[in-house]
Amino acid sequence: MPEETPAFSQFASPSGEEAVRQVREIMSLRARTGTPMALVRTYGCQQNVSDSEKIKGFLAQMGFSFTENEEEADFILFNTCAVREHAENRVFGNVGALKTVKRRHPSTLIAVCGCMMEEDKAAERIRSVFPFVGLVFGTHVIHKFPQLLLRALTENRRVFERGDDSEDHQIAEGLPVRRDGTVKAWLTVMYGCNNFCSYCIVPYVRGRERSREPDAILKEFRGLVRDGYKDITLLGQNVNSYGKTLQNPVSFASLLRMLDEVEGDYRIRFMTSHPKDLTKELIDTIASGKHISHHLHLPFQSGNDRILKAMNRSYTRERYLELISYAKEKIPDVSLTSDIIVGFPGETYEEFRDTVDLIRRVEFTSLFTFIYSPRTGTKAAKLPDPVPAAEKGRWLQELCAEQEKIAARRCAASVGTVQRVLIEQQKPKTGLLTGRTDGNIIVDFAGDPALIGQFANVRITSARNWILGGELI
Ligand code: SAH
Ligand code: SF4
Ligand code: F3S
Repeated sequence: MPEETPAFSQFASPSGEEAVRQVREIMSLRARTGTPMALVRTYGCQQNVSDSEKIKGFLAQMGFSFTENEEEADFILFNTCAVREHAENRVFGNVGALKTVKRRHPSTLIAVCGCMMEEDKAAERIRSVFPFVGLVFGTHVIHKFPQLLLRALTENRRVFERGDDSEDHQIAEGLPVRRDGTVKAWLTVMYGCNNFCSYCIVPYVRGRERSREPDAILKEFRGLVRDGYKDITLLGQNVNSYGKTLQNPVSFASLLRMLDEVEGDYRIRFMTSHPKDLTKELIDTIASGKHISHHLHLPFQSGNDRILKAMNRSYTRERYLELISYAKEKIPDVSLTSDIIVGFPGETYEEFRDTVDLIRRVEFTSLFTFIYSPRTGTKAAKLPDPVPAAEKGRWLQELCAEQEKIAARRCAASVGTVQRVLIEQQKPKTGLLTGRTDGNIIVDFAGDPALIGQFANVRITSARNWILGGELI
C-alpha cells in the first residue's frame, strides 16, 4: 500500500503537515490581497506538468489560489526543463525578467525547481546571477515542498535543496494533486531513466528508473475514472521497462491489462515507449484492449544505424521497422507519432536522408522534431560537431516539409470515416467544439457545448492544416 512507503510516512509525519499548517498561517498574514496567490509556470515535458500538479496540490492545501499574473502573485515558481539549450535560455530570460517584479513587490517569494536545478551549472547560475530567487529545489525533493517553503519564508536566507543519492530511490506516494484539467489527466507510473542515450540529460537530472507499485497506480487510476476523467495518460521516460525493478516484477503490458479492466467510459494513453523495450505482447495488449488508445508514440530519433549506435539507442532501423509493421498488422488503424533529432554530432547529409526515408515508410501522424543541442556532461557533447547550425536548420525544414505532405495525405484519407472524439472545449473564435480522436488528431465540429467532456461519434468531412472538420452523428 502507498501509505507504507518511506517517503509517504516522511510527508505524513507531523513535520510535513505542520509545515503546511504554518505556511498557511504565515501566508494569510503576508498575502497582499488577503488571499495568498501563487503562479506556477511549467516548462518541459508531461513529467514536469505532473510534478507541478503535485506542488499545486500542496499550495492549495496551504490556502493558495492560482494566477497567471506575476504582478498579483505572492509566490512565483518556475518548474524548469533541461533537455535543450533553448529551453534553458528561455528559463534564464524569464527568471531575469522577475527582477523588476520583485522590486515592485518585495514580499513576493520567487522559487525555481525542476530538472535544471539538478544540474550544477544551472543551479549555480541561478545562485550567483539572480540573488532575488529565494528558493531552489531539485526533482527529488518535491515531497518535501512544504518544509522547504516554510524554511524560505522563515529563515533569513536563501534555501537550496537537492536530493542525495539515498533519496534518489524513493517514490513519494500519497502527495496531494491539483490537476490542471477535468477531462485529461496525467498519471506517472515510473520515474527516472537508465538508458543514457548519449545526447540526453534526463538520466542525470531525473535519476535511475523507479516504478510505482501496481496497487498504488490502480488506486489512483480508479480515482481518476470515478472523478470523470476520460483521457488518462500513463507517464514515464521509458514505460516499456516499467516494473522491472519492483520486488515482484510486472510487465508494462500486464499493468495496462489490469487498468483496462476498470469499468468506465475512458481511454488510456501512455508515453514514452522506447523501441528497444517494446514487446509484441504490448502491441497485442493494445490491439485487444477495451480502453487502450490505438496511438503509439515511439521515438526513433534517427533512421541511420551508425547514428543510432552513436546515440546509444540499442536498436537498429530494421528492428524499428519490424515493430512498426507488427503494430500496423495487429492494429490496422494505429496512429504513430515519434521524436527525431536532426544534426547529431558527425551526422552527414546522407545519414540524415535515412531519417527522411524512414518517415516516408512509416507515415507518422505527427512528429516532434528537434535540432541536436549539446548538453554538458553527456557523451555526445564531447564529439566533434562540424555541421553548421544553419545547415542543420535546412535539414530540419526538409524533414518537416516531407512530414507535412505525409500528414496532409493521412488526414485527407480519413475523410468519410467515423471517429470517436473526446470533446475538450469550444473554440472562442468559431464557436465550434473541438476534441481529439483516439489517434490524437484534432477534430472541429458544430455541437452543443453541454457535450464538453464526453465522447461523441463524428463523421470526418474535411481535412485542412492537419485539423479535421466533421459533423456529429
Ligand atoms: N524518454 C523519451 C524522451 C524524453 S526527451 C524517449 O526516449 O523517447 C524528449 C525528446 O527530446 C527526445 O525524444 C529527443 O528527441 C529530444 N531530445 C533529448 N535530448 C536532446 C538533445 N540533447 N538535443 C535535441 N533533442 C533532444
Ligand atoms: Fe533521454 Fe534516452 Fe532516457 Fe529518453 S530514453 S529520457 S532520450 S536517455
Ligand atoms: Fe525536460 Fe525534465 Fe522532462 S529535462 S523533457 S522536463 S524530464
